[in-house]
Amino acid sequence: MSKLLDDMNALAAEISVCRDCMLHLTRDKSVPGEGNVRTKILFIGEGPGANENATGRPFVGQAGNFLNQLLAIAQVKRQEVFITNVVKCRPPSNRDPLPEELSACSKFLNRQIELINPLIIVTLGRFSMARYFPLQRISSIHGQGLWVNDRLIIPMFHPAAALHQPSLRAAIEHDFSLIPGYLEQAKERFDPKPVIEEKPAEAPKPDNSAPAEPDTGEAAQLSLF
Ligand code: URA
Repeated sequence: MSKLLDDMNALAAEISVCRDCMLHLTRDKSVPGEGNVRTKILFIGEGPGANENATGRPFVGQAGNFLNQLLAIAQVKRQEVFITNVVKCRPPSNRDPLPEELSACSKFLNRQIELINPLIIVTLGRFSMARYFPLQRISSIHGQGLWVNDRLIIPMFHPAAALHQPSLRAAIEHDFSLIPGYLEQAKERFDPKPVIEEKPAEAPKPDNSAPAEPDTGEAAQLSLF
């Protein structure tokens, strides 16, 4: 196992015995997050619901099924990305996480971000958006990739909210379709392609020109690693 995976597993073990806020009193399982620790894309949701509390896995209920559909729109496989939440234990009756719970849990999310060091972060819902844009409204900035400390942050509506409101559903589906472009933009910032000087085109010589490459029709694949 790699050191990175060891460190992430050690963090998950720490989260499972954390008692730094009241949520530990009502949890069955903590939900540290799951996925590929070497991904370029990190998704941050709000907090575990009933299904997540029972299984210890993020986004496994109805919102999770919808998230899976959205990931397909973004052309990424769930096992290729990392998915976590701002709070790692379920708020009772799915209430909003309290400021003291968010603040007690933020050290874990900070360490996850440090370990994964993703190129882009997709925030799902207002609580994860507020980590980066505390004064913004999600209805104004959803789907817009914004640079924060050299990382592209893309605030999205929460899948659970979008599931129940048709207008938000269309918006979140469109926003997820922008992810491949944002990933390219972020890759380009850190690994710019060399600028190739354009030379004036020479007239083709018909007798010694190379045969054209056949078009295989294959779409370009996204590389997440
Ligand atoms: N499941 C999660 O893990 N997080 C959410 O924000 C919603 C459902």
